[in-house]
Amino acid sequence: MSAGRLRFIHISDLHILGEAGMRQYGVDTAEILTRAVPMIQALTPEFVVASGDLVGDESEAAYRRLQRLLEPLRVPVHFLMGNHDDRPAFRRVFRPQEAASAQPVTESFEHEGHRFVLLDSSQPGTVEGALGAEQLAWLEAQLSGRPDLPTWIFLHHQPLPIYIRWLDALGLTNGEAFLAQLARHRQVGVIAFGHVHQARRWRYRGTLFLAVPALAFQFSSVRQDLEVTQESPGFRLVEIADGVRRCSLHFLDGQVEPEPSDLAIPVYVR
Ligand SMILES: [Fe+2]
Ligand SMILES: [Fe+2]
Repeated sequence: MSAGRLRFIHISDLHILGEAGMRQYGVDTAEILTRAVPMIQALTPEFVVASGDLVGDESEAAYRRLQRLLEPLRVPVHFLMGNHDDRPAFRRVFRPQEAASAQPVTESFEHEGHRFVLLDSSQPGTVEGALGAEQLAWLEAQLSGRPDLPTWIFLHHQPLPIYIRWLDALGLTNGEAFLAQLARHRQVGVIAFGHVHQARRWRYRGTLFLAVPALAFQFSSVRQDLEVTQESPGFRLVEIADGVRRCSLHFLDGQVEPEPSDLAIPVYVR
């Protein structure tokens, strides 16, 4: 199993709103994305994964604003759905050649000997997430088809509790079934997600779990009830070379935080 050099960026929770000047939790999310785009471009990733809550108000107008804000970015962006997204509205703007259906938005692709599987954990009408039987069957086929390639899985909701009460009530409701299925596919090295609006990382049963900060307002990693903090928005850069993965968090205030190597990442405690 030899995998080539690779450099990509994981962003999440952009929460773009339909009207200019609108704010969520006092934050102008479009202004944040406007500043983030040149930072992302300067890091020269081969692609970007945006893991849901692309918009904050489920409106088609917000997807059109998002599309305009991303225009200066000269790299492909792969999109996931979150609880604030609307599948038909997303499809009307970003996939106009498709029917604007309400079916889950999923995708898989390979890049330089690595495989990326993007799931849709959103459930229209609810904040918490789930992966339906049909999607889990699709995932099974994806993983069985290429057991030889190191694989990243992206989804919006956290598949395991992060021990923050209000967020854990809104996580992935069938996380156990999902993880039991993944345990049969040893090539899955990383599960990456957003939704919790904060960085998290842990190891669990041989897989790395990585939550990325929001590219919008951040939620407290300490308080058990909803609290928005003044922490900077950010994203994660992933660089893989010669089989070694290096991750770093890049914040919009200019801070860059190299993340620990795998063995220095704590094991998840249940
Ligand atoms: Fe979000
Ligand atoms: Fe979310």
